[in-house]
Amino acid sequence: MSVLKISNLHAEVDGKEILKGVNLTISEGETVALLGPNGHGKSTLFNVIMGHPRFVVTSGTIYFDDIDVLALPTNERAKLGLFLGMQAPSEVPGVINSDFLKSALNARREKPISTYNFYKLLDQATKELKMPFDLATRALNEGFSGGEKKRNEILQLKVLEPKLALLDEIDSGLDVDAMQVVAEVIRKEQEKGRGFLIISHYARLYDLVKPTRAVVMINGRIVLDGGPEIFKRIDQTGYEFIKTELGIEIAKDEPNMNTVSIGSCAVKTGVE
Ligand SMILES: Nc1ncnc2c1ncn2[C@@H]1O[C@H](COP(=O)(O)OP(=O)(O)OP(=O)(O)O)[C@@H](O)[C@H]1O
Ligand SMILES: [Mg+2]
Repeated sequence: MSVLKISNLHAEVDGKEILKGVNLTISEGETVALLGPNGHGKSTLFNVIMGHPRFVVTSGTIYFDDIDVLALPTNERAKLGLFLGMQAPSEVPGVINSDFLKSALNARREKPISTYNFYKLLDQATKELKMPFDLATRALNEGFSGGEKKRNEILQLKVLEPKLALLDEIDSGLDVDAMQVVAEVIRKEQEKGRGFLIISHYARLYDLVKPTRAVVMINGRIVLDGGPEIFKRIDQTGYEFIKTELGIEIAKDEPNMNTVSIGSCAVKTGVE
């Protein structure tokens, strides 16, 4: 059984500690909502799980299928079946979207997929996502609208078929119809047994994909772990009850940089 087990995870970026002892276990096939105020470490957790080089793990462990994830490079983590749908996907000029997808898929297969079968797969996946096929033949994310970038993350999910998908604000930028389309795809993937850990600030996506569990990250730790009533409550009343009922002081908002992306490690001069 595929289980992601994160224990006492501490991590920092540029010398600043962001994750301060994360404990979280996700079992096979679960869909879990991850909530928390801006800047409290949700995206950092996802980046650390996937091995973004800018984030330094100072202590703690991550195991997936009893394999020490932190000992592996990012591509090996992906081969294990972990996947990240990014909050802010990078534009990669010069790399054709479909070539990227095919290489990523072949990296996980023993025998490369035939061009015919790959295009059949791509055609079906783009149709399901109601994406114009030309997005698959353009440079990866280059000039894509906000919603197109998010749909493209889900296209990757469909093609790569991970065991556990980490989706970081996949709903931001999607119009109402696109949200329905993406939710429908997620529902189909849930039926196939895929697990999801989904960050969103709004109940709307959660109402559509129905997580069975919700966890809340405050100040770099998971402070609450319970049922769907948690995201319903947060959607209606915000995070105040965390302070009044759990006695946890919520650190003041810091400007959210959100400038760290997987893509930025591939170039020497980043845009930040
Ligand atoms: N290079 C950096 N140097 C210092 N602080 C950083 C750096 N990169 C990120 N941070 C900080 O880490 C904190 C956690 O950021 P993270 O992106 O994980 O938050 P988040 O919970 O995903 O927030 P949001 O809901 O706004 O997406 C933020 O305060 C952010 O400013
Ligand atoms: Mg974030």
